[in-house]
Amino acid sequence: MAVISRAQVGIVGAGPAGLLLSHLLALHGIESVVVENKSREYCEARQRAGLLEAGTVELLRSVGLGERLDAEGLEHDGIYLQFDGERHHVNIRSLTGGRWVTVYAQTEIVKDLIAARLAAGGAIEFSASDVTVRDVTSSRPVLSYVDSSGAAHEVSCDVIAGCDGFHGISRPLIPEISVYERTYPYAWLGILADAAPSTDELIYSRHESGFALYSMRSPSVSRLYLQVPPDEKLEEWPDDRIWSELQRRFAVDGWSVAEGTVTDKSITPMRSFVAGPMRHGRLFLAGDAAHIVPPTGAKGLNLALSDVIVLANALRAALVSGSWELADAYSDTCLRRVWRATHFSWWMTSMLHVAPGADAFESQLQLSQLRYVTSSRAQATALAENYAGYQPVRFDA
Ligand code: APR
Ligand code: PHB
Repeated sequence: MAVISRAQVGIVGAGPAGLLLSHLLALHGIESVVVENKSREYCEARQRAGLLEAGTVELLRSVGLGERLDAEGLEHDGIYLQFDGERHHVNIRSLTGGRWVTVYAQTEIVKDLIAARLAAGGAIEFSASDVTVRDVTSSRPVLSYVDSSGAAHEVSCDVIAGCDGFHGISRPLIPEISVYERTYPYAWLGILADAAPSTDELIYSRHESGFALYSMRSPSVSRLYLQVPPDEKLEEWPDDRIWSELQRRFAVDGWSVAEGTVTDKSITPMRSFVAGPMRHGRLFLAGDAAHIVPPTGAKGLNLALSDVIVLANALRAALVSGSWELADAYSDTCLRRVWRATHFSWWMTSMLHVAPGADAFESQLQLSQLRYVTSSRAQATALAENYAGYQPVRFDA
């Protein structure tokens, strides 16, 4: 027999989207249960991107999640765009009238959120199995799962939030969902290295051998990426090959990439994916469950958290005040932002990567576009506005 319980909101997935939703709902006095099929250790160790828009930083601060972010996050005024052996600074702060970006790894946000939820007595079921969602078109959808000790549970909810990422169970429950997709003919090989970054800001470099990105995690840890073929094997990339390719793609006179011990290495495919509507009955999708962007624009995490702010506002109106208007608008509200970020991410990706078989004509177009972005104030402003976060959403505290 299953243990029967009740929660206002059932949340599938303890990634940044599910955890922040649970935190924001608690601030509205709405209780939730988060059900996650991986262990806490796994969720806290997963290496993902780490660049926060100014609006995301402001939101996290305003809801009591800013302490470690302010102590350890690295605030950046801009980025470098490199091409044709030249490095150009794009000053996002001055172009946007004071907006900025902060480097703070997603994995650290997940740790902060888990700690905050557990300290507040929030319910997170890690290592759950057989997670299912049913009756989403009724007024009492059910989230069921088997907990880590083997006991079966059925949670009767008002609403279920599918925050279970790209491979989750929630998206397939939306009938006649439309899917828009693009796969790119390359992947990113990412490393973490114990090396003090030899750059003050991120460098996005277009090189004839392919794209490279220089990011960081702290004053002593670098995060670097190389464009590689989509089916590349990690075994093909011993550390010395990675460093020499990074040196080649970032080369400018009198400067080099600081090398160190590689502590993590992985390959990520590049994809754009948007699915909608993001709601069916009382099931709402948020984050990677509904959309994926290639990481070149650093939008994935920010988009996931923006969905959740919109959803928390809508669920407060619905569950506290009985007004479903914001919930009815949820999918359209999110998808407008998602498509803006999808375009920006596709544009950054197309401008900076070298597609297999690309000819000299394409190369010249990319270089011309990069020269335009780094010499026209209007073009640089458009980049800066999107990169720092276009039309940030506000949490109705
Ligand atoms: N049952 C329970 N949990 C599940 C299930 C399931 N059937 N399927 C997936 N999950 C969990 C995953 O284990 C993961 O912890 O859902 C969580 C989804 O988290 P993320 O993939 O991190 O997605 P999201 O919270 O939307 O965050 C988006 O992740 O990929 C990056 O760039 C992206 O930064 C963005 C962020
Ligand atoms: C990262 O630090 O992991 C990072 C930063 C910027 C990006 C992508 C990844 O565009």
